Amino acid sequence: MLIFIDSANINEIEEAYNCGLIDGVTTNPTLLAKENQPVDRILKKICSIVKGPVSAEVISLDSKNMIKEAKHLSKIASNIVIKIPLTKEGLKAVRVLLKEKIKTNVTLCFSPTQAILAAKAGADYISPFIGRLDDISQNGMELIEKIKQIYNNYNFKTKIIVASVRNPLHILKAALIGADIVTVPFSVIEQLVKHPLTDVGIQRFLEDYKKIPKR
Ligand code: E4P
Repeated sequence: MLIFIDSANINEIEEAYNCGLIDGVTTNPTLLAKENQPVDRILKKICSIVKGPVSAEVISLDSKNMIKEAKHLSKIASNIVIKIPLTKEGLKAVRVLLKEKIKTNVTLCFSPTQAILAAKAGADYISPFIGRLDDISQNGMELIEKIKQIYNNYNFKTKIIVASVRNPLHILKAALIGADIVTVPFSVIEQLVKHPLTDVGIQRFLEDYKKIPKR
């Protein structure tokens, strides 16, 4: 399973990438807005740090302008993947971008049937938002199970990015289901690394080491 960081913050991305913890990045307009810098500049910087896929989202709602934006964004770096919302216009754009060999990540997916359409349109990635489903008392992880089964049934090549991840348990469950990728906020990546018994263990080893005679 690949781990992407769901962030547009250069410090977070640099830290996670330099520790070898992440394989790619997903951004969205909300994450970019927090950085208070022009979008192209941030994306260029991210792509200079991370060699794996970096998702950048279009904001147009009609396919013609989505394609125009996608072409612009894809010129920023060769590892840019275009995030397209799961709408009729979005799916239209995905088909065109497929022919243009521009990679797409279909985002804001909340149902298995939406995921079928994205795969049929030729999306490289599908991003089901599990946390936002959990937030409204629906089981986000069941959506991942269903998409995984459907994609296996028909041998769809679209990769599943488990998105809107809120805690380490989401990542564990995604891995057990066999999702291709999870995209994780920096705070949750840190939670993944940490275990109280690891800290206690280090402390105990350091204390015991002091007891060893030096000669
Ligand atoms: C995915 O690509 C999105 O950027 C992200 O996971 C959305 O998560 P949120 O529901 O925490 O905003």
